[in-house]
Amino acid sequence: TVLILDFGSQYTQLIARKLRELQVYCEIHPYNHVPKLEFTPIGVIFSGGPASVYDEDAPHVDASVFELGVPILGICYGLQEMAWHYDNKNVAAGDKKEYGSAILQVQRFKGQITDELFKDLDDSMKVWMSHGDKLAKLPSSFVTIATTSNSPFAGIAHSEKPFYGIQFHPEVTHTPSGVQLLRNFAVNICKAKPEWTMGSFKDIEVERIRNLVGPKGQVIGAVSGGVDSTVAAKLMHEAIGSRFHPVLVDNGLLRLDEASRVKERFTRMMGMDLTVVDASKRNLGRLAGVTDPEKKRKIIGNAFIEIFVETAKEIEADAARNPDAGEIEWLLQGTLYPDVIESVSFKGPSHTIKTHHNVGGLPEKMQLKLIEPLRELFKDEVRKLGLELGIDAELVGRHPFPGPGLGVRVMGGVTEEKLQIARHADNIFIREIRAAGIYNDISQAYAAVGEERAVGVMGDRRYYGRILYLRAVQTVDFMTATFYRFNWDFLDMVSTKIVNEVVGVSRVVYDTTSKPPGTIEME
Ligand code: XMP
Repeated sequence: TVLILDFGSQYTQLIARKLRELQVYCEIHPYNHVPKLEFTPIGVIFSGGPASVYDEDAPHVDASVFELGVPILGICYGLQEMAWHYDNKNVAAGDKKEYGSAILQVQRFKGQITDELFKDLDDSMKVWMSHGDKLAKLPSSFVTIATTSNSPFAGIAHSEKPFYGIQFHPEVTHTPSGVQLLRNFAVNICKAKPEWTMGSFKDIEVERIRNLVGPKGQVIGAVSGGVDSTVAAKLMHEAIGSRFHPVLVDNGLLRLDEASRVKERFTRMMGMDLTVVDASKRNLGRLAGVTDPEKKRKIIGNAFIEIFVETAKEIEADAARNPDAGEIEWLLQGTLYPDVIESVSFKGPSHTIKTHHNVGGLPEKMQLKLIEPLRELFKDEVRKLGLELGIDAELVGRHPFPGPGLGVRVMGGVTEEKLQIARHADNIFIREIRAAGIYNDISQAYAAVGEERAVGVMGDRRYYGRILYLRAVQTVDFMTATFYRFNWDFLDMVSTKIVNEVVGVSRVVYDTTSKPPGTIEME
């Protein structure tokens, strides 16, 4: 494992993803995790970060990391941190900020250990800079291995140990040779074996689940029809067959025909016995008259937990009739690695703008042990694992859909009328996006319905109908997003179809807000 120590950079996850793409397994931990490590890494990367090493509360790594006897690469703040460790006076100066592209000149020392980082790279390369402080003085026992016109110490290396520092960001695409540099570090210098593939992950994970659950253990898990829960479910099914019980709760806020489509997919294509619970009446009944988005989320979340617990009891009673099976002891959750990183971050959980974790509290309530087979994976890896498990590409490439479903896409009070509009309009929008071949260029797209009405003219009659909002965004991490640039003819065609085919809609508008300041969902 390559250890990435996080100093709070917005790019930390990108470092991990780049290494994973090189098939090198790595983990992100907070910068202060070193004395508590439960494994010995084969190399360490210090991420960038917003602090200055001279700040009073600047994050500093435990000095023992330099004694682990493994290579270290410091990126941006990581370089400052390395220099600070060796000479904690005068290494950094914060006078000039530098942001953008720069041309790096590599300096070589004829086959010395210091040359390993830029091995086989051009002597002159384009790199991406984004920093406030820069190194003002070389710490003793270090040499300069790269410069730019603005940074005389854009790359430094210890003259005897495999410790390297770079001021630029190799993990961003604006540094075209960055991947090769990371490969040099991970594969050549740390001697990581590039063996991290979803094929090998699948085999190891299936085996691990089998051992964990034992020969009789049973597992229950909620599925939504989305990528994560479907991949997690298929993995469980591979591992323990019918001792895994998938459950779909239809809360009345699913997309058009979603429950029956998921049922069909699970039974016919994946050979799993999916329990579908129709809880739409109960859920929509509780939502009647509620307009506050956070209250809506709470009601939907609580109803989900209640219904899931009831269903689990029924399945358990049923399963108890099977003399060969033990109790249901485990709960499957499709937690992904970004959630894990977020929850261990030294910065603490980021400011809650919306309560996303609709199913929080479920494991405690049910007194079940958690099983989270995807907790080491990024979304793109989950998609690859899905393909590896034989799940079709269309499902594996599906846009995310929020837990509270159409509840946050029908603004204000949730009514059957608005839900019908949202369902049908969304169905047309997504169908046309697929037909135009742009589904995979878009990260998330949907139709939402507002509370207000607008006038339209249809067949010479004034018509006071709903306003329908279309939203489509592109994003890498769902933390920031830009609206998708459709061409006008496409929007024209979709808008005409929706007004013609969806009863109750008089206007269609396209949301051109990026995130921030907007969010991806409407509520
Ligand atoms: P926002 O609207 O916060 O959305 O920009 C970012 C991503 O999170 C999804 N989302 C949710 N997912 N429960 C969920 O499970 C929620 O309450 C929720 N709200 C937003 C959203 O669809 C997008 O992918």
